[in-house]
Amino acid sequence: MTITHISAECYPVAKVGGLADVVGALPKYQNSASISSQVIMPFYDNKFTKENVFSSIFSSEILLGNTPIEFNVLVLKEKPLDFDIFFIDIPELLFKEYVYSFDDTERFLAFQIAVLDWMLSWEKHPDIIHCHDHHTGLIPFMLQESYKYETFRKIPNILTIHNAQYQGWFSHSKVGLIPPFNFDHVGLLDWGGTINPLAAAIKCAWRVTTVSPSYMEELKAAANGLESLLSAESGKCSGILNGIDTDVWNPETDHYIIKNYSIKTVNAGAEANKKHLCDTFNLDFNKPLFAFIGRLVDEKGSDLFPEVFKLALQNNNLNILLLGSGNPFVEEELKNLKNDYIGTYDAFIGYDEKLSHIIYSGADFLLMPSRVEPCGLNQMYALRYGTIPIVRSIGGLKDTVIDISETNGFGICHENVTVLEIVNAINRGIILYENQPEYKKIRTSIMNIDHSWHVSAKEYINLYNSIN
Ligand code: ADP
Ligand code: GLC
Repeated sequence: MTITHISAECYPVAKVGGLADVVGALPKYQNSASISSQVIMPFYDNKFTKENVFSSIFSSEILLGNTPIEFNVLVLKEKPLDFDIFFIDIPELLFKEYVYSFDDTERFLAFQIAVLDWMLSWEKHPDIIHCHDHHTGLIPFMLQESYKYETFRKIPNILTIHNAQYQGWFSHSKVGLIPPFNFDHVGLLDWGGTINPLAAAIKCAWRVTTVSPSYMEELKAAANGLESLLSAESGKCSGILNGIDTDVWNPETDHYIIKNYSIKTVNAGAEANKKHLCDTFNLDFNKPLFAFIGRLVDEKGSDLFPEVFKLALQNNNLNILLLGSGNPFVEEELKNLKNDYIGTYDAFIGYDEKLSHIIYSGADFLLMPSRVEPCGLNQMYALRYGTIPIVRSIGGLKDTVIDISETNGFGICHENVTVLEIVNAINRGIILYENQPEYKKIRTSIMNIDHSWHVSAKEYINLYNSIN
């Protein structure tokens, strides 16, 4: 069986968040489970594309409305990945330093059209087309409705919703950019008076998945306007929990961290990494280290961080280290806090893959007070590195973290996203840390939890089989 994944992000080529990690890992695990999985993504102007050599295997021209635009399909010439990956190169639209930009409607529409135009030249169609998020949401619509792609009508296709907050809305005045289709069905593109690529994909895809079972349920009540659509389409929807790439995220072999360690050597190993973090960020090694890694957006609860951190740090009995970027006001406040808590708080505003690995390995606790968390990968990385997650019980966090007060519990959970509940959860962490034998027992046991892709990759295969 051949699966073609289409995505805006894929690790290690281009990553903004967890979407990249998933698309960079799932195909690898699918290939090892005897199906043939490949990825098609845009060609950006970034570190990866600068450091690698590419060759062109196909060139043609798309029509975006009436405008002809040239594109190439590129492949890696050397240093292949663990799966086949193809890049759609549209220099004037896609080749930018950042994955996302103000003109994403045109960029991702052109990308999707180029993908399907290129597929028209293939001798054999894939057995399944697997689209990820709204950037590829018009593909299920075009497969079903565009005259040009009639030959693809019978190809089963799947949409995975990684995050329903973002839907790719654009005005009906741009409908002419979409290749000609049966205009009687224009309503399939619409949700609430605008063109909504995510909604169109939910309507047209053969199956829809979300990245955790709890998130699927939650979406029926809160999906940024798509609740009733998801409820109506629930018959074809299911939640499949993400896995993690245990080759990339492995404290025994991770070349980013200061000291590698296994479950047997976690105490010394994690402490060496903590020591490095404390030296680098001027923190106090003898106090527990609470960290946050992620996008500074309201979804992650980051607007509350300044208040939470001030309250938590006032007793001078913990360290907080943050790695993230996003809302400029929050960034500014988090930077300003540094002067007030020298020696126990620091924030690195920006994106740094290497530092994220060192933090997962060296922090004692990882904070995830998310308002919305479709799956969340950070908590699974933390577990693998022996760092105890402190999470708000929602979405994938609810599906992967059990509170220490429950049987077999190993994390700290809170119900609501308020300053007081988050600080209370941090205080529970401090109390746990004071009981070093218990803290160390949990740290060791969580490293054994298996969140590798093996299990979920099989669930996807079952889903593919059900429609192929
Ligand atoms: P989301 O996709 O909503 O951002 P996930 O938990 O699924 O959340 O995945 C986030 C991914 O992005 C993880 O691999 C995390 O380590 C990484 N990440 C987020 N922000 C940063 C950052 N500032 N520097 C390095 N890695 C980051
Ligand atoms: C999204 C979600 C995150 C999820 C990731 C990968 O970015 O916000 O919760 O883990 O996609 O599926």
